[in-house]
Amino acid sequence: MVYYPYTKVQLSLLISFVINIVMMTYAVEFNPTITEIFINGLPNDTPPLDVGCKSKDDDLGVHTLKVGERFDFSFHQNFWGNTHFYCNFTWGPKHNDFDVFYKGKSPCRFTFFKSDIFCYWLMKDSGIYFARTKTPNPSPDNFRFVYPWL
Ligand SMILES: *[C@@H]1O[C@H](CO)[C@@H](O)[C@H](O)[C@H]1NC(C)=O
Repeated sequence: MVYYPYTKVQLSLLISFVINIVMMTYAVEFNPTITEIFINGLPNDTPPLDVGCKSKDDDLGVHTLKVGERFDFSFHQNFWGNTHFYCNFTWGPKHNDFDVFYKGKSPCRFTFFKSDIFCYWLMKDSGIYFARTKTPNPSPDNFRFVYPWL
């Protein structure tokens, strides 16, 4: 008599069905929009701020911001959670560059909760300040110093 592993086949079908449902649900329900906002809060009569951003797949180019201007972009994190955006900032002779979205390595990163994320980067004379909020209007108290000018 041939042993036929019905239960193994059924189990693996069930598992792949469940994985499918989880992935589809994740894509539809749990994938918040992440918006990065860069604000030139530098003193008047100083050089403009250049913001250059890229990911593995996209180069968003360099955006020049005058005092008071802002630049933003939005994206969804990929299923594997390794979406990585990296930006460089140049203000006259000063500069810095860092991850603006990366798992565990940026103050702007995914939180498990199903909510959109707004990451604000405020460029001031004294350095670069950051706020992460769920709605697009951070209060000044939300900002904390994150990086100096180099
Ligand atoms: C800054 O970012 C822009 C846009 O991604 C890129 O083209 C440029 O090479 C970067 N500059 C430096 C010094 O990394």
